[in-house]
Amino acid sequence: MYDLFVTVVLISLGIFIIVTGLIAIALWRGRSSTGIPEQEFGKTRSEIFWMTGPILIVVWIFVISAKLVLTMNAVPKIHPTDGNAEVELTVIGHQWWWEVQYSGSPIVAANEIYIPVGKKVRVEIRSADVIHSFWVPQLARKMDAIPGHPNYIWLEANKVGVYQGRCAEYCGTQHTWMKFKVFVKSTEDYAQWKSDAEAAIKKTAAAAVAATGTDSSAAPANTLADQGKQLFLSEGCVNCHTIAGLSTPNIGPDLTRISQRAMLGAGVLPNSKENLAKWLSDPQTYKPGCKMPDFKFTDKQVDQLVAFLESLN
Ligand code: CUA
Repeated sequence: MYDLFVTVVLISLGIFIIVTGLIAIALWRGRSSTGIPEQEFGKTRSEIFWMTGPILIVVWIFVISAKLVLTMNAVPKIHPTDGNAEVELTVIGHQWWWEVQYSGSPIVAANEIYIPVGKKVRVEIRSADVIHSFWVPQLARKMDAIPGHPNYIWLEANKVGVYQGRCAEYCGTQHTWMKFKVFVKSTEDYAQWKSDAEAAIKKTAAAAVAATGTDSSAAPANTLADQGKQLFLSEGCVNCHTIAGLSTPNIGPDLTRISQRAMLGAGVLPNSKENLAKWLSDPQTYKPGCKMPDFKFTDKQVDQLVAFLESLN
């Protein structure tokens, strides 16, 4: 895209210089004449030249643009063994957050994407509801997330860092707060992050399975976290949010590793215990219209839920 951009700018610059130059010459030559010069006809050769020249230039720009669009729109090869994609992600736009799934891994994240530096990442972009648009201005072009029609895009970052992403298609009241971040890590850091995340998910799932193995009525919820877990299961959280080993609805963001997230509510609050408590107390204050209702939790219930969610890491 950059090469095409530079090519078109150079062509335009050349034309601009030629045209303004010719005008300047004509003005200079005719500086002493008065009145309107007579229109000249019958210069067939120059007329043909000034007709076909621009047509050829426009056709050429069309051809190189079309070729580029076709190349960029080609569905990237699916298997890493083909030597193309090193990482495969599926990103699903929801009102108003992004779900990120890692191919061949149990990692499901919300509003953050971890990728290794210098590797091609094939991203399948889907929508769970309306049309969104996936956009990381520093890494790639925009790509619409269209219900029922997966699109594909490459992400490739050549510098380690954090890149800001946005939804770039108006999708409802909280379109603005549909931010995400792309964390570009070195190959080693990425591998470490991935194995840590997978181990944490395994641990959480195993703990949940172990807990259901015992008679929970016989074992009273002693800790704040245990009480929070009971609330999670009884108050309706469980109907929308997935936690590894505990629930699978996958309507709201997966909460298995919420303690590791950078942001809450797709960017409305930095993630911290205090902010998680604020969010649970009344999500509608921080993100009016978001799909999470105000459950009117008491302060004590909020503390229990925070303790539970923070215990999952
Ligand atoms: Cu999603 Cu705008």
